[in-house]
Amino acid sequence: MTDKPTTSLTIRRPDDWHLHLRDGAMLRAVLPETARHFGRAIIMPNLMPPVVTAADASAYRARIMAALPADMSFTPLMTLYLTEDTDPADVAAAHANGIATAVKLYPAGATTNSASGVRDFEKVRPVLEKMAEIGMPLCIHGEVTHSDVDIFDREAVFIDKILKPIRKKNPDLRIVMEHVTTLDAVDYVRDQPKNLAATITTHHLIINRNHILAGGIRPHYYCLPVAKREQHRVALVQAAVSGDKRFFLGTDSAPHTDPNKLQACGCAGVFSASNTMSCLAEVFEAADALDKLEAFTSLNGPRFYGLSASDEAMTLTRGEPVTYPSHIATGDGPVTVFDPGFPLHWRVAD
Ligand code: DOR
Ligand code: ZN
Repeated sequence: MTDKPTTSLTIRRPDDWHLHLRDGAMLRAVLPETARHFGRAIIMPNLMPPVVTAADASAYRARIMAALPADMSFTPLMTLYLTEDTDPADVAAAHANGIATAVKLYPAGATTNSASGVRDFEKVRPVLEKMAEIGMPLCIHGEVTHSDVDIFDREAVFIDKILKPIRKKNPDLRIVMEHVTTLDAVDYVRDQPKNLAATITTHHLIINRNHILAGGIRPHYYCLPVAKREQHRVALVQAAVSGDKRFFLGTDSAPHTDPNKLQACGCAGVFSASNTMSCLAEVFEAADALDKLEAFTSLNGPRFYGLSASDEAMTLTRGEPVTYPSHIATGDGPVTVFDPGFPLHWRVAD
């Protein structure tokens, strides 16, 4: 006798622990794509200009809530963009008042709108010490940016050259290594018993660097950190489906219009807000680990951030392949939705 395949799965409503919502017309178009499924999200602060102060975050949160359709529920968890001028007292006040959940560290030049990021890590030491004291997490884009470091090695070099020293100086600082893409990062997080977790994106569980470059260049798969070799993708899947509490979903869904992606120097970012839950169910099913999906999308993240898991439920059902629009329309132009390259059988029930 064979076990009947699972055709329905009910989990707590998921959260997205790393999301780009942008602003203005783009925000209005992409926010419902996330709020349809996700209850909360950690909102990235890399606007132009960036969200640096508590006042900036409070104003941005108000714009997000104003853009939320009246029939949807969603809680944005705001982050502050760490600069060399960030004031530790402003950060502490933003945390105490519930305006900011975390601080985001971009090494200067690492990615989209990161020019105001950190060059000299000594300069942000007082902020990091204050955050360790008050228990406020630091979200890190973990890539070095030196032109002499190969782009495929930038995450591994960051761990050795930057992350390890930061953790040595601030063992009490709670850190999320965001959008990890390598076996090196997975191993490092697994080795650390305290105060370190990692988010994994949907697309990095599905694509490797061949998907971007073999048989033609596919700009819609280009993001940062760039997808690595297959062995790294496999390590990410193993971490995600393991149930290990230190790994959780951060989609890094990052909309750019097609004209901005499809040009000689195209923007980095994959937009996956619309179909992420269907993609993840497919990945977890293929790994025979559907029972671990809830931990990855709905339990481990709130646990690390000291929040309760959602008390709402989401049901996914398996059936004929479900299709999503290939693009969403925005006032700035069309945005292409992530194409996993395989049929999606799991649909989120209404
Ligand atoms: O691919 C990416 N896009 N990686 C990032 O770190 C930033 C993001 C964006 O803002 O477009
Ligand atoms: Zn991001």
